Amino acid sequence: MSSFAELVAECRRQPPLVALVLGSGFGILAERLQGALAVSYLSLAELGAPSVPGHDGVLLLAEWGGQRSLVFSGRLHYFEGHPWRRVEQPVLLARDLGAKILLLTNAAGGIRDDLTPGSLMALRDHLDWTQPFAGRHSGPGQCPRPYSARLLGKLRDAAKTLGIALTDGVYAQVTGPSYETKAEIRALRSIGADAVGMSTAHEISRAQELGMECAALSCITNRAAGLGEGPINHEEVLASAATQGDRLAQLLEAFLQHLPRP
Ligand code: HPA
Repeated sequence: MSSFAELVAECRRQPPLVALVLGSGFGILAERLQGALAVSYLSLAELGAPSVPGHDGVLLLAEWGGQRSLVFSGRLHYFEGHPWRRVEQPVLLARDLGAKILLLTNAAGGIRDDLTPGSLMALRDHLDWTQPFAGRHSGPGQCPRPYSARLLGKLRDAAKTLGIALTDGVYAQVTGPSYETKAEIRALRSIGADAVGMSTAHEISRAQELGMECAALSCITNRAAGLGEGPINHEEVLASAATQGDRLAQLLEAFLQHLPRP
């Protein structure tokens, strides 16, 4: 492991363009990054260790797809008991370390009929069902437009190059920690949600407020409550995510390659 001071010095010398957050079960992607500087979240006072299985808690600085990238392997969730302030820390840190682009990944339950386990969905918009508790980031009169059309286009280009099926849709963030009731999923479907998960929208809102250009990808690990067979459990979500790790890594790498060099 490296020290945070080393990582900061490297970022000052040559700032990263992109910061990526790897969601549930995708920590294995980080193993592809050769020669990365790696810092444990434990050595960062603002972060602390994620407590959810499937989240590593390591910050990496690496060359990925020809881009200098900051990779947060592991996410801090509100449902773990972290205040929103801490959930947002990776975004604030990424911005402070120079990243202009933020790409978040998550595992999600599919609500729309075509979103079955193994589907990949780029976020076109989101519903933040945590808002009553978290408050909005955008100021009065601002129009949140969380996801960059340019980056969505780059994700589509990358998927096309690789022959990977990529759809887009609307993601709903709920607080968790439990999965949803069937009635909640029916309600989410009726208000336009295509997929559901416990992260992302809040982090993206903060990043947008900070002026970062944002994109996010959902890996559908299960059908949402009441739409599949039997109850959902975290182990199955992680197992499903693990089977998608390689494809997601290829897509992220190709996406980074499609970005212009700074
Ligand atoms: N609901 C909420 N979060 C999730 C799900 C789900 O069905 N799958 C993966 N994360």
